[in-house]
Amino acid sequence: MNTVNPPSNVSSLPVSGERLRLDEGALEAAKRSIEKGAVTPSYGPWREDIIALLNGALATEIVCVLRYKRHHFTARGLTSPKIAEEFLVHAQEETAHGDLLAERIVQLGGEPDFSPATLLERSHADYDDSSDLQAMIRANLVAERVAIEAYGQMIKLIGDKDSTTRRILEQILAQEQEHADELSDWLTD
Ligand SMILES: [Fe+2]
Ligand SMILES: [Fe+2]
Repeated sequence: MNTVNPPSNVSSLPVSGERLRLDEGALEAAKRSIEKGAVTPSYGPWREDIIALLNGALATEIVCVLRYKRHHFTARGLTSPKIAEEFLVHAQEETAHGDLLAERIVQLGGEPDFSPATLLERSHADYDDSSDLQAMIRANLVAERVAIEAYGQMIKLIGDKDSTTRRILEQILAQEQEHADELSDWLTD
């Protein structure tokens, strides 16, 4: 019915006659389901899985905030106040990551899980209360590497299923890589 044979001199059109056209039905459906907020018909079937992945990352960020805060306050009296201050900077950056994730979860119609009761079991990274500076640095480096691996996997899983979420995760991943790089520089063995 709608077969368009492209003129033979227009090489940029596919031979099949396929064209790039919007789905008018989905545009109409978008007008009707306003209770879904930012989630429209083209979003695809992965919403719940993506929200679950984001909640796992949110739990990880919160545990990272707690670990870095603990290290900040206990490392202050140790030999390197500079590193203690950097732990606080990391804590603030992990807080901002958690906020980005929680905001995106809500945009997707999900519920950000801040429950302290299940935080550690849902987090990919561990808490740490070492009292030695090098042990703190090592624990933070391990946690950052776990976060980097988790974000890398999430970005691959999400692919083109949700480009906004992917961009947020890529932005966070870049900062986790900076954190890990800094921590490696402070590690003396
Ligand atoms: Fe983070
Ligand atoms: Fe980090």
